[in-house]
Amino acid sequence: MSGRLEGKKILVTAAGQGIGKATAIAFHKEGAHVIATDLNDKTLADLNKEYPEIKVQKLDSTDNNAILEFTKTLDKVDVLFNAVGFVHHGTILDCEEKDWDFSSNINVKSMYFMCKAILPLMIKYNGGSIINVSSCVSSLKGFPNRFIYGTTKAAVIGLTKSIAADFVKQNIRCNSIAPGTVFSPSWQDRVNQSPDPEQAKKDFIARQPMGRIGTAEEIAAVAVYLASDDATFTTGTTISVDGGISI
Ligand SMILES: NC(=O)c1ccc[n+]([C@@H]2O[C@H](COP(=O)([O-])OP(=O)(O)OC[C@H]3O[C@@H](n4cnc5c(N)ncnc54)[C@H](O)[C@@H]3O)[C@@H](O)[C@H]2O)c1
Repeated sequence: MSGRLEGKKILVTAAGQGIGKATAIAFHKEGAHVIATDLNDKTLADLNKEYPEIKVQKLDSTDNNAILEFTKTLDKVDVLFNAVGFVHHGTILDCEEKDWDFSSNINVKSMYFMCKAILPLMIKYNGGSIINVSSCVSSLKGFPNRFIYGTTKAAVIGLTKSIAADFVKQNIRCNSIAPGTVFSPSWQDRVNQSPDPEQAKKDFIARQPMGRIGTAEEIAAVAVYLASDDATFTTGTTISVDGGISI
């Protein structure tokens, strides 16, 4: 299928790799005008080389001044896809105040900044769709050693529902996606950095009822749906795309 997002203007955060990148490409393939943002301008340049129609912009999603300056260059935004996020490993006893602040800034405050900056552009044109990437590790399910990650990803679900409730009359939908374990560069790093990478990989796969981890493209497919006019009656929800891990 193609053309489901024909003409829509879409902004993606954390689009340099992983779920953000796969989603930016999927949006582009469905006919959208995509602006891909990330902290890493090298991966953005690679994306732009492969897909010259995808515009790229270096943007730190935790820097509100930079976001507001960037927003001044935009007119209409139909869809905002917030993919930025960071996994801290450990329990509450391993989470120092600096870890709490770092994860909260990247996982939640970034979404507050981005949504607040972009919502006026959606209101101006009487509609839009915001999609925030949460996780199965959130209010949906507790996992060992994911204390601050689960806390912040639960907050993403609350943030999503609040925005959905406040702007439903303005034709703005706000939903989140809760992926299970998905292959991405940062997931590969987590495996490689564990004391026994082979065992770590087996453990990740063993907890997946489908016996495999997901692909970024499988998350992107749901993002395309939520961005599209197929989802015009869907708001305030969280769609689990997790191979059954949260059953
Ligand atoms: N991979 C998984 O298994 C999985 C599972 C559930 C949820 N998620 C969520 O999906 C999202 C994407 O994760 P991923 O693993 O696909 O990608 P990733 O972690 O491999 O890549 C993250 C990207 O975010 C960018 N980034 C980091 N800090 C930034 C900042 N301050 N501003 C802008 N960009 C920044 C990085 O440069 C990188 O390109 C995250 O929110 C993550 O929590 C991932």
